[in-house]
Amino acid sequence: VEPGFPTGLLVTLDRSSRSGVRSQLERELREAVQQRRLAPGAKLPPSRTLASELAIARSVVVEAYTQLVAEGYFEATQGAGTRVCRIPAPPDAKRSSSPARLNMAFTTGLPDPAFFPRKEWLRCYRAAVDACTDEVLGFPEPRGRIELRAVLADYLARVRAVRSSADEIVICNGISQAIAVVCRAMRARGASTIAVEDPCFEAHRRLVAACGLTPVPIGVDEHGIEVSRLIEADVAMVLVAPAHSYPSGAVLSPERRLALADWARQRDALIIEDDYDAEFRFDRTPVGALQGLAPGNVVHAGSVSKVLNPSLRIGWLAVPDWLLGDVIDTKFIEDVATETFGQLALARFIETGAFTRHIRRVRPLYRARRDQLLDALRSQAPDLRPQGAVAGLHLYVRLPQDVREGDLIAAAKENGLRVEGAARHWAAANETEPAVLVGYGMLRESTILRDVAALIAAVRDAGGPRTGGDAGAPPPVARR
Ligand SMILES: Cc1ncc(COP(=O)(O)O)c(C=O)c1O
Repeated sequence: VEPGFPTGLLVTLDRSSRSGVRSQLERELREAVQQRRLAPGAKLPPSRTLASELAIARSVVVEAYTQLVAEGYFEATQGAGTRVCRIPAPPDAKRSSSPARLNMAFTTGLPDPAFFPRKEWLRCYRAAVDACTDEVLGFPEPRGRIELRAVLADYLARVRAVRSSADEIVICNGISQAIAVVCRAMRARGASTIAVEDPCFEAHRRLVAACGLTPVPIGVDEHGIEVSRLIEADVAMVLVAPAHSYPSGAVLSPERRLALADWARQRDALIIEDDYDAEFRFDRTPVGALQGLAPGNVVHAGSVSKVLNPSLRIGWLAVPDWLLGDVIDTKFIEDVATETFGQLALARFIETGAFTRHIRRVRPLYRARRDQLLDALRSQAPDLRPQGAVAGLHLYVRLPQDVREGDLIAAAKENGLRVEGAARHWAAANETEPAVLVGYGMLRESTILRDVAALIAAVRDAGGPRTGGDAGAPPPVARR
């Protein structure tokens, strides 16, 4: 990595827009200079690097750079690359009513939109629409299309060791709706409480409450949810992400997996298994789903949100027999059924092997981003303690004790960087150790060092100790 590329250079291109990619790139870069996200003197990434990150032709980047040189925003020096020129600041820049765009490099949980396999997806989608019969254009089945359910039952058995048949799969609009449907179905059967991990995905804690269930927080340590505390609590339902607890990143230990499955069987309890990012396990082959250990007591939920993109809104449930009818009824009452063509496209996408090829392609790329992030944190900020690095698309980074999360977020914003705090994911937000979530799905090689430097500057501005490469031994990080 060549160091020193600008922090704010996170260019987003909208390929569906009428204006061409080149004019969008020009506009984005011009605005970045005007809004001072690209500082005078900052060095631009080489055209080859930026082109590969944006998945566009190098000539497009060269043309955009050339245009901005001609306009006086950039200057190119033979052998020294392209740099940002000093342009006068607009007189009312500080009072501008439109808020400056923040650098979203550390956004959590989002796969890189540049990796979305547009051509393959379009091919599958087109083929699905082309091949559709009159029957497909009738009222959709609440359970979902049989083509997708059959392919998923097979895929989940092979890849996640889920034990289910096509009949036991229900297609939903992502894991979030899948959880809501199960919670509503269980509420109608008389359930009133549900254990949730503490910390857990805050939106899901609100979601289960909105379905009429009282969330009961159960602690998570480095081995995952504390099953002994779950056993002590008077609950008969739990929502858990055993493969990679969110946001702490803990993986449920083999002993606790067995204990959790035993508890569910003995207590006749229901486990909702949130399997949101199991495909991105970096240290070993992903561990099979918990559902395989207790298929009668586990509802397994997955989606394409992390592997492909959350905008697709396609997810699934593997439901035990005794609950299946209720879940299908509830899904029907919610929204009749999930949109048909996306399901048929996904069925083809999985069946033709494109899904597996895509995972094989992007997993090492995310792993490389994670490694760069860990290395940069370790060398530049040994006081920050990252954890949960074995899987997923984000790190849970504990802060020095004297840094308040809110101050850090404000300081980062001041420097043009968006950072997500961890506190809201805890049941008692104000009693937690200060921490932030640092996503690496969207990180770019050309800007990572600057982005980490901006994060560290924000920690310092928020009152933390001065960090640097010589500030002591790096903390242990769970990474292999
Ligand atoms: C813990 C967790 N589960 C599940 C999801 C995915 O939800 P969905 O499939 O509804 O997009 C997310 C997304 O951010 C998440 O953080």
